[in-house]
Amino acid sequence: MKILIINGPNLNFLGKREPEIYGSKTLEMINNEIELFGKKCKMEIEFFQSNHEGFIIDRIQQAYDKIDYLIINPGALTHYGIGIRDAILSTNLKTIEVHLSNVYSREEFRHKSVISDICIGKITGFGSEGYKMALQYLSSLKK
Ligand code: DQA
Repeated sequence: MKILIINGPNLNFLGKREPEIYGSKTLEMINNEIELFGKKCKMEIEFFQSNHEGFIIDRIQQAYDKIDYLIINPGALTHYGIGIRDAILSTNLKTIEVHLSNVYSREEFRHKSVISDICIGKITGFGSEGYKMALQYLSSLKK
């Protein structure tokens, strides 16, 4: 099973960024943990992070017909990134939405996601474990 994990704006700053909300692990530490977990589940995982919506759209388009599932934390673009929604719809990629923080216990503008309704599901509030929870679910789909 091939999985693409995309992280959006400011997630390259994990570790330094509001650690009381997002935890103290860097994105590199999180990705290393995910990679180890993925190996156990025999998954091929690719990682991508960008602060730019267009680069994220390009990466989603490149994944067309090449990966089985997309796991995405679009960061702030979650709340207004219609271009990302359209890219997911255009490529028909089966997608899981992940957030480190519980977006529903925060400001009201974070309650709205422009991709939730086109995703298989959404994991929010379990920190970096959320990515592994998504992988765990996907590995349960394997025969
Ligand atoms: C986030 C939540 C978003 O509201 C925020 O803009 C982020 C991170 C999360 O993982 O909790 O950048 O997606």
